[in-house]
Amino acid sequence: MQKYNFFNNVVALQIKQINMSSSFSFRNVQKVTTHVLQEMKLKGEKIAMLTAYDFSFARILEDTGIDVILVGDSASNVMAGHASTLPITLNEMIYHASSVVRAVKRALVVVDLPFGTYQGNSKEALASAVRIMKEAGADAVKLEGGKEVVESIDRILTAGIPVMGHLGLTPQSIHKFGTYVVRATTEEEANKLVADAHILTDAGCFAIVLEKIPAKLGKQVSKEVNIPIIGIGAGQDVDGQVLVLHDMLGITQEFSPRFLRRYHNLSEEVKGAVNSYIHDVKNLEFPNEREQY
Ligand code: KIV
Repeated sequence: MQKYNFFNNVVALQIKQINMSSSFSFRNVQKVTTHVLQEMKLKGEKIAMLTAYDFSFARILEDTGIDVILVGDSASNVMAGHASTLPITLNEMIYHASSVVRAVKRALVVVDLPFGTYQGNSKEALASAVRIMKEAGADAVKLEGGKEVVESIDRILTAGIPVMGHLGLTPQSIHKFGTYVVRATTEEEANKLVADAHILTDAGCFAIVLEKIPAKLGKQVSKEVNIPIIGIGAGQDVDGQVLVLHDMLGITQEFSPRFLRRYHNLSEEVKGAVNSYIHDVKNLEFPNEREQY
């Protein structure tokens, strides 16, 4: 039995009313909430989620009508150039998250609790989550792990803060595993992952990210639990997908796992534009007469 059911009757009723009109689309929803994501799972509409860490990209994402924006602790790699997600601090996450929140009205903004801010004890976990909600204005928090962190999840949920789980490849535990290979390939690991997904669901998480696991397992978890499962390298039979924005745009080049589809080669485009600028400056072609006072 779910202890904290975030499914709010008022929102459910609103969605049902909209749903009765033939032109209904979740894209017309004015604000994506955790309840809307639950409805999307029920109706079989896939959830699209991407990361953002700053105001400018968040505004572009918001204009596209993306469902969920994750202020991921991947900011540690992508924005700060660290080798892992471990160094990023709570203050830095709050800085990134508040920049994103200022750009977003419709998308649900989920913010990662960084390494070391929720594993120690549940009181510390609640204090970290409260700071993210208060100081950044986020809609929800995300944290990594199953049974080991359920006490922290319980405590955060008692304060009315929605929690997204994260299982499979959990980058904050990279030093325990020592490698970024596909997770849950043995029966024992797969059973633990399924059990953890049930624990997180029963605790009251509103969704779970499954990272880099066999597609068959992603499908099984998505069928077994009644909350949305968002995959990153978990196959297509889950309830939604997430990618790191800078990876899918081709800004980062060095990271190429099989699950990553690059939709653009933005680093090459940026280099092309900057090279043109350098050329123009050096050859007195910029600024021209129309570009001066
Ligand atoms: O930090 C992040 O970007 C994430 C995604 C990979 C899901 O957790």
